[in-house]
Amino acid sequence: MTTNKGEFVKPVEMYIAASLYGPNLVASESDEWKRHRKIAAPSFSERNNRLVYDETTRITTEIFESWSNKGGGETVKVDNALTLTSKLALMVISAAGFGMRSGWEDAEEPPTGHKMTFPTAMSTVLSNFVIRLVFSDTMLNLWQGGRKVATAFKELHVYMREMIEERRQSAAAESDSQADLFTNLINGTSLEEEEKDGDGLTDEELMGNVFIFLFAGHETTAHSIAFTLALLATHQDIQEKAFGELRSIVPEGEIPTYAHVVKWSYGLACIYESLRLYSPVVAFPKKAAHDTVVATYSADEKNTPITVPIPKGSGIMINVVGLHYNPKYWDEPEVFRPERFLGDYNRDAFMPFAAGPRACIGRRFSEVEAITVLAHLLLNYRFKPTPLNDAETPAEMKERLLRWRQGALTMGPEKVPLTFTRRHK
Ligand code: HEM
Repeated sequence: MTTNKGEFVKPVEMYIAASLYGPNLVASESDEWKRHRKIAAPSFSERNNRLVYDETTRITTEIFESWSNKGGGETVKVDNALTLTSKLALMVISAAGFGMRSGWEDAEEPPTGHKMTFPTAMSTVLSNFVIRLVFSDTMLNLWQGGRKVATAFKELHVYMREMIEERRQSAAAESDSQADLFTNLINGTSLEEEEKDGDGLTDEELMGNVFIFLFAGHETTAHSIAFTLALLATHQDIQEKAFGELRSIVPEGEIPTYAHVVKWSYGLACIYESLRLYSPVVAFPKKAAHDTVVATYSADEKNTPITVPIPKGSGIMINVVGLHYNPKYWDEPEVFRPERFLGDYNRDAFMPFAAGPRACIGRRFSEVEAITVLAHLLLNYRFKPTPLNDAETPAEMKERLLRWRQGALTMGPEKVPLTFTRRHK
């Protein structure tokens, strides 16, 4: 399907949800969007990708240490890999996004002057934004859960304001040593302001964009890594092939470096194939900004090129799952086969990160995070589904692990119980 650029916008409820903390990249259109995107784009730099690798490596190492401390780490049962990937994704976006580093086993003690830790405030906000949109402060104060949501929203606001003030003061001094998105954004904003005479982002807009990186980047990444683990656990042959390909890049006894992981094309192919089969974003709702036409093909056998008129104001839904399972583009679409991403494939038929000028700005961030965590896991452990009981068949386990549910924002696995066994060289 093709359209002319800029003809579709987001429906109004998406703007409201995305604007909770201020104007931003997601909740803007036309020239406003261009300004946000121009300032935000350089933050997702190669230096930031390397930081994503460093932070993911640090956190994964801490996970392995924690497993070793709790019983030797030879065989580890993880009750739900989604809990693990959610915590990991939150820690990576906190560190590589905002320079807020924390340890895997850190106590949940809020720092002085705060009622909640930054990760707790963030995860509470992300999973309760609908409640926040629906209820006023007075209503939220009526029950304990509501009070927790209200506190989390206020706390996140205070944390973000503190970050902005702190970085505004030390931006110049720190610009060479820090590559997190937030520092990049602040530095970019300061430069823009100087060079373009006040054309940078205001504090409100900065806050809005900080929040949107969390909002758009956390759950999507956590879900996609959890699905990749579930698929590799239920396809042991592919897991071993992925390990073999990685071993041929990373010499035995060495820790995989950034250069190693970005060379591991089979690892990225596994992640893409998981995103094709289980795209966290299942559809993009859009609204026609003016009268337009969509060029597509007839649904019958003839496959004739046709145009569909779309009047201004019409709602349309771009069906990602339909595209990803269309046998016209994907041979045996329901089969998990990473090899399809090693050769030539139809890039227009693969849209987990959308396409065109409004495609995902954090794509490389999430790819580097996913290949890094996968590389460390595979070099150290084999993993398989934890059976429910002795009678459960491999087919039943596969069906259970790959069952999906709607998360706060995106589609994710229902529950992924895995058993990890240490690999001996
Ligand atoms: C597997 C992980 C991810 C997936 C599947 C994903 C998917 C998407 C999709 C489909 C869109 C377009 C939505 C639409 O047009 O309605 C989008 C936009 C966006 N994503 Fe991601 N995303 C991921 C990770 C991230 C990360 C890690 C970040 C930030 C750190 C991020 C930040 C954004 C932003 C800011 C936009 C809006 C871009 C714009 O409107 O110009 N995403 N993402």
